[in-house]
Amino acid sequence: MGAAVPHESARLHVTGAAQFTDDLIPRTKDVLHAHPVQVPQAHARVTALRVAPALRVPGVVRVLTAADVPGVNDAGIKQDEPLFPEEVMFFGHAVCWVLAETYEAARVGAAAVEVETEPLPSYVTVREAIAADSFQGAMPQLVRGDVETGLADAVHVFGGELEIAGQEHFYLETHSSLAHVDEAGQVFVQSSTQHPSETQEIVAHVLGRASNEVTVQCLRMGGGFGGKEMQPHGLAAIAALGATCTGRPVRVRLTRAQDLTMSGKRHGFLVEWRVGFDAAGRLLALEATLTSDGGWSLDLSEPVLARALCHVDNAYWLPHVRLNGRIVRTHKTSSTAFRGFGGPQGMLVIEDILGRCAPLLGIDPMELRRRNFYRRGQTTPYGQLVRHPERLDRLWRQVVDTGDIAARQREVAAFNAAHPHAKRGLAVTPVKFGISFNLTAFNQAGALVHVYRDGSVLINHGGTEMGQGLHTKMLQVAATELGIPLGRVRLAPTRTDKVPNTSATAASCGADLNGGAVRQACEQLRERLTRVAATMLGLNAADISIVDGVARGTGAPTGVEWNDLVRTAYFQRVQLFAAGFYRTEGLYWDSAAMQGSPFKYFAYGVAAAEVEVDGFTGTYRTRRVDIVHDVGDSLSPLIDIGQIEGGFAQGAGWLTLEDLRWNTGTGAARGQLATRGASSYKLPSFSEMPEVFNVTMLADAAEEGAVYGAKAVGEPPLMLAFSVREALRQAAAAFGPAGISIDLASPATPEAVFWAIERARACGGHGPTADADLAPGGAANAGHPTPERAPRTVSHV
Ligand code: MTE
Ligand code: MOS
Repeated sequence: MGAAVPHESARLHVTGAAQFTDDLIPRTKDVLHAHPVQVPQAHARVTALRVAPALRVPGVVRVLTAADVPGVNDAGIKQDEPLFPEEVMFFGHAVCWVLAETYEAARVGAAAVEVETEPLPSYVTVREAIAADSFQGAMPQLVRGDVETGLADAVHVFGGELEIAGQEHFYLETHSSLAHVDEAGQVFVQSSTQHPSETQEIVAHVLGRASNEVTVQCLRMGGGFGGKEMQPHGLAAIAALGATCTGRPVRVRLTRAQDLTMSGKRHGFLVEWRVGFDAAGRLLALEATLTSDGGWSLDLSEPVLARALCHVDNAYWLPHVRLNGRIVRTHKTSSTAFRGFGGPQGMLVIEDILGRCAPLLGIDPMELRRRNFYRRGQTTPYGQLVRHPERLDRLWRQVVDTGDIAARQREVAAFNAAHPHAKRGLAVTPVKFGISFNLTAFNQAGALVHVYRDGSVLINHGGTEMGQGLHTKMLQVAATELGIPLGRVRLAPTRTDKVPNTSATAASCGADLNGGAVRQACEQLRERLTRVAATMLGLNAADISIVDGVARGTGAPTGVEWNDLVRTAYFQRVQLFAAGFYRTEGLYWDSAAMQGSPFKYFAYGVAAAEVEVDGFTGTYRTRRVDIVHDVGDSLSPLIDIGQIEGGFAQGAGWLTLEDLRWNTGTGAARGQLATRGASSYKLPSFSEMPEVFNVTMLADAAEEGAVYGAKAVGEPPLMLAFSVREALRQAAAAFGPAGISIDLASPATPEAVFWAIERARACGGHGPTADADLAPGGAANAGHPTPERAPRTVSHV
């Protein structure tokens, strides 16, 4: 435990030997290839579907339509996602699937299918959907205290709006599935899924079968990032249906363009807010309405919204809060889970507010943030005690000290004074992220551990591997708990017939939950084996421990080798396999009241980012980033550092580079995703990495009650990237007079930063100083073009 070992598949990844689901195809005899028939309309009713022309294409074997579905024609769990729809709900929606001997034949066959439609009105943007009253799902409200009183008591009240963009997952491996049917009709689906049990359930209901007739396996994924939590189910169901209809293996693998145009993305949000501060800049009241863009179906939009509402506070004490949540239905791909699961959008609300209000309050943004941190004994707006808030102070101090922030702030000021056309900004932001699934029932996991007669160990657990290093950590847990070298333990691919009823590998709890289950299974085995060792050594079992593959009494020079111990146990007919189970204790959540204690603990982190912005183009460089992050006692330091770096980079991509654009015009391409390739969708790459990138894990941070004191690490670091956005805001502000509030679009692309600079410059020498009044649409925006996505200015209300 805690050893710095490489990812268990690192060698396979870098040599290309690692097998992903679609790599199985060359070894699969008689496989049929599936191709979707995508309809190029945002919203339309299908009035006729003629598949005969496709069947005349050489190589085409069958066209799957709604008529083939023996069970439920639905790919989701909300009954709002018809697998073969009669209504096209987004541009590129697949209405049927062609199966053929080759991928090319399937493609040509799909093009030959004739679809007649009748157009229906479509809503592409959140504002359009709101105007048309197009909502879906619940409208939760999270309330504490009395916002009206809080705002009335406030010395400063500000209001504003924020538009938060979505994000494309852009995992390297696109969605893929391969289904087989055996001689007894049992269906075996290999799928790139973060949630094999739910894929199994949905395949079963589409086929009208029981779950015990369907097995789902996930070898590993080339990235999931939440995009494979819900979205694989329908694709797996197509493969399974194809296999049951034809008796042949069926492969579904989306091309990049199909994946981009058919699968869901991070939810965009539109947020309106009012905030009140006291004279000292302490937050008194916040009222906000968060409207998320659910896309065409509900998918995971409700839990994503719940997590967003539960994270608006981030690291800050808010005495009076009223948060309204709602989800619009738009005619776009169905928004889904994405690293942070709504948490990032919620937290961005308060970070944006603090960044915009700090200059109006005349308080340095760093000071404003720190002053509002949670203190011991305070609770979140949903009523959970914030444990260990002092960790935030520790992290903050460590970043400020090791990042040399005070001296660098002076350097930044000197640089800005000397350079009219380039400005630097340096910002520090905190992260507090709740760990556990909000829905209590999901916080359980199972494992199966086998010790073979030769002493080798095989573990199965319910979690899936998507690059995050879960399997590496599980190997470490098993080796540590059994007291044997890591090399003796092997991990088998995730399968629903080994461990049933699993939760998605999500919410960053993969290691917490499955680690608990693996550990519990290993504990049983260790106890049984130490009893055997006790008889062999003539000692009391309580005095024996197994370390480095040898069982020995405390302080004893000799002991029993693991292999001998296992062999002896076998001959004594001791059970050498065990099932483990884990449930997170102490959770409670009332989703109607939006109150409870849904999280086992909070993961904390602090980041400092320094950027330099070019005044002519708005382009920028990230000069330096310093992160100190709380992972408890790290289970696997190399993995955890990789997660922190990767999460941060992905967050910076979301906030500053990646710009999803949809055709919002009224022409034939209305609703089409314009950024449907790596050529038009800008992902972070080496050149966007910080020039200096210091990542440290908080020391002495063991988390009681978690597996080996380790905290979850998968999602929280993404939100460390707020520091980059805030640094860009400050750099843009430096082009104008002191004390102006800068609105920054999200993503803060070079274009958006350029417009922010222009607005700062427009304030000229007469910008407001601290507390001067900014009338609505006032100084910061006066006389300048309003770019497409510029948020409206902060105003005193
Ligand atoms: N890291 C890699 N390399 N690839 C991924 O797909 N997904 C993230 C995170 N880190 C992801 C990743 C997301 S969205 C989650 S919820 C967690 O990993 C899931 O894994 P864990 O629970 O084992 O941390
Ligand atoms: Mo992660 S968004 O919870 O899969």
